[in-house]
Amino acid sequence: MTQEWWRDAVVYQVYVRSFADSNGDGEGDLQGVRSRLPYLADLGVDAIWLNPFYTSPLADGGYDVADYRAVDPRFGTLEDAAELIRDAHTHGLRVIVDIVPNHSSDQHAWFRDGLRDRYVYRPGRGENGELPPNDWESVFGGPAWTRTAEGDWYLHLFAPEQPDLNWENPDVHAEFLDILRFWLDLGVDGFRIDVAHGMVKAAGLPDVGHPDQNEMLGEEPLPYFDQDGVHDIYRTWREVLDSYPGDRMAVAEAWAPNAERTALYVRPDELHQAFNFHFLKAKWTAPAFRTVIDDMLSTGAPATWVLSNHDVTRHVTRYGGGETGWRRARAAALLMLALPGSTYVYQGEELGLPEVLDLPDEVLQDPKWERSGHTDRGRDGCRVPLPWTSTGPSLGFSTGPGWLPQPEDWAKLSAAEQQTSPESMLSLYRAVLRLRRMLSFGDFEWLELPPDVLGFRRGAFHCVVNLGAEPVRLTEVGRVLVSSSRYGSDGILPPDTALWWA
Ligand code: NOJ
Repeated sequence: MTQEWWRDAVVYQVYVRSFADSNGDGEGDLQGVRSRLPYLADLGVDAIWLNPFYTSPLADGGYDVADYRAVDPRFGTLEDAAELIRDAHTHGLRVIVDIVPNHSSDQHAWFRDGLRDRYVYRPGRGENGELPPNDWESVFGGPAWTRTAEGDWYLHLFAPEQPDLNWENPDVHAEFLDILRFWLDLGVDGFRIDVAHGMVKAAGLPDVGHPDQNEMLGEEPLPYFDQDGVHDIYRTWREVLDSYPGDRMAVAEAWAPNAERTALYVRPDELHQAFNFHFLKAKWTAPAFRTVIDDMLSTGAPATWVLSNHDVTRHVTRYGGGETGWRRARAAALLMLALPGSTYVYQGEELGLPEVLDLPDEVLQDPKWERSGHTDRGRDGCRVPLPWTSTGPSLGFSTGPGWLPQPEDWAKLSAAEQQTSPESMLSLYRAVLRLRRMLSFGDFEWLELPPDVLGFRRGAFHCVVNLGAEPVRLTEVGRVLVSSSRYGSDGILPPDTALWWA
């Protein structure tokens, strides 16, 4: 049997609202994605993951779903979704859609119709119930509870417009199994599971007893995340996935405290992959990357690697911005794409887009901005519409302005500009993705190198990255396949540079 496609797939994350606009309303849509499938096929990725495009008031960019089986009119229709899936398959691209089971929108029929047993309601504390039921904090800031007109409180780990579903209710289980089937019937190849570690809460909803819970996210056990009970849910989901032909899969967004806890989500009868956010969080040093790579590989679970997504500062900026950030991003791409396992590429990283740090206050839409009392500008800076061409009101994204303004200097970062330049980020991604498909890889083994240098081999294939500030001399370099910055024949690997050879 050949290996399942997802094990070493390169998955391109499409943030639909910001990818390509087909109808000139300033927001990306499914037909826009469809029109750019040739670009994605040519880039050399294996699959696309679409961020939520379901009916939603967009209180949290679509992660507040009002109808799990319908497309929001701003993104298109169900027919558009079916057409996109079909066309993607024709281009040899698999399609992964997002599923949001921890919470719905407050505009979901269940919440609007007052089906209280599907959500988490509790009486308040204090003499008149005027205090929240416990000390849980919303990930977006402020208490995780909102008081109802009846005087009790409902739980929302995210915005108040995102009430948490009650997974103790069998109706909720049945509904989500049915939603999975709905999209599988439409032809999707898999699901990205939002807050996959959140659905089950510790019995009795105990206090955390810590003043800054958001500091602890993904680092320490919390009574509302990564509870053992979530795994029972995924066993039933796996049965549904396995009942369909083809390798249907699911990838968990699970912020667990460590690689071992994360690996539990990908036991053979559960999900297929879990994002490895420790890689994304690693500082730009050789020991930091070595540790997270070792941690991932030592679990024996299917590996995933990701540098950016729609929730974090784009990595060109995280790695220092400007020329340094650019060089490091190029080197990081070579590192990530050389590792065993599958890789998730966030739209625009192939163009080297930086985070947009100076969006005007009045355009900010991320609920974090309001909920933090205007101290956290939120995640809009990594969601700015893509520049496709070097001219036009939104650089080819739409016929008019986009829903967020692009920086003026993005014309030179546009796909059209980069397409023809061999030195561009786009050309690097395309070349490396082509090579990756052609190469055969053996077993992973670290190379012994100076402390600032990270290197490994996989059979005849070698990848070496200089994360230090000084050039290093390499001995025994074979046939050079690609380098992220100039590598001369003198065997000197400059700082912030990666090299592949075989
Ligand atoms: C994770 C999603 O990636 C993020 O964008 C969203 O705000 C939260 N989950 C809540 O759904």
